[in-house]
Amino acid sequence: MSYFSDKLAFITGGSSGIGLATANLLATRGCSLVLFARGQKMLDEACKTIKKNMEKTLSSVNAVSMDVTDNAEVQQKIKFAVEKFGIPDILINSAGVGTGDYFENISYEQFDKVMKINVYGTRNAISAVLPFMKQKGRGHIVNISSVAGLIGMFSYSLYSTTKYALVGFSECLRSELKRFNITVTLVCPPEVKTPFIEEEAKTLPPEARVVKNLAGLLTPEQASKAIVRGIRRKKFLVVPGIMAKSLLFWHRISNGLLTRMPADLIIKFTSRRLSKIN
Ligand SMILES: NC(=O)c1ccc[n+]([C@@H]2O[C@H](COP(=O)([O-])OP(=O)(O)OC[C@H]3O[C@@H](n4cnc5c(N)ncnc54)[C@H](OP(=O)(O)O)[C@@H]3O)[C@@H](O)[C@H]2O)c1
Repeated sequence: MSYFSDKLAFITGGSSGIGLATANLLATRGCSLVLFARGQKMLDEACKTIKKNMEKTLSSVNAVSMDVTDNAEVQQKIKFAVEKFGIPDILINSAGVGTGDYFENISYEQFDKVMKINVYGTRNAISAVLPFMKQKGRGHIVNISSVAGLIGMFSYSLYSTTKYALVGFSECLRSELKRFNITVTLVCPPEVKTPFIEEEAKTLPPEARVVKNLAGLLTPEQASKAIVRGIRRKKFLVVPGIMAKSLLFWHRISNGLLTRMPADLIIKFTSRRLSKIN
């Protein structure tokens, strides 16, 4: 019997990318799932794919359409899901959007929108699930931040702000919720090959593209393996991928010097090359 058999996980952003890959992997381990995202069509497709992986288990997968930025809707939909499917053992906050651009190009409205999805969205889902987990006497909350939540990077003035916020938020919650037998896991993946990076590429400056390569690229399946292992081991910090782990190691032991210096050089040479081309 697997650690995840007979467990129920709620996953925001479960219809795509990292959330979907994690849902798929949990399904093969016997975990029941409720997926949350805005688009019903993608939720239905995700459920269909996951059901195929559940053939040999007694678990189930369901989906609820929900916008994590709308707090009233989140409270109501999570309550509905709890009444219909049960109190979750695990909440994975994977709903999020990416954006990379020069700070001067980012409007107030865009800043506000991304903060509301990445930060408030996570806050809303946790505040809706928490009373139920406390009632159950245990739970596990998993927040998907990013390497960009641990190391600031060219063109990520908005994205990193949201992901750094999740790091502080998760550290505080870990400390507060331990006494209720609720574990918090913070996941900081490097770049992962999902629709997210296609969207981000539309505005990502070329200098940032070169710097991002320093942390490596993972498949959603690789990221999900690290996430599921981290949940199983009740780890606080999960950094998927060898390159991301070593980047973080050098960043920490040099107080940022060994990551800022090469990044600054790369940006300088890339900018010079670009100005010669243009
Ligand atoms: N891919 C990467 O390189 C990377 C690296 C580090 C961290 N991350 C983080 O990992 C998480 C998942 O990213 P991903 O790469 O898997 O992206 P993705 O494939 O684009 O999936 C994003 C998911 O979030 C949902 N979502 C977006 N806005 C939402 C909202 N307002 N309400 C409810 N659901 C919403 C999407 O569904 P709907 O649009 O239908 O709502 C979708 O299911 C994000 O938090 C991202 O910041 C990604």
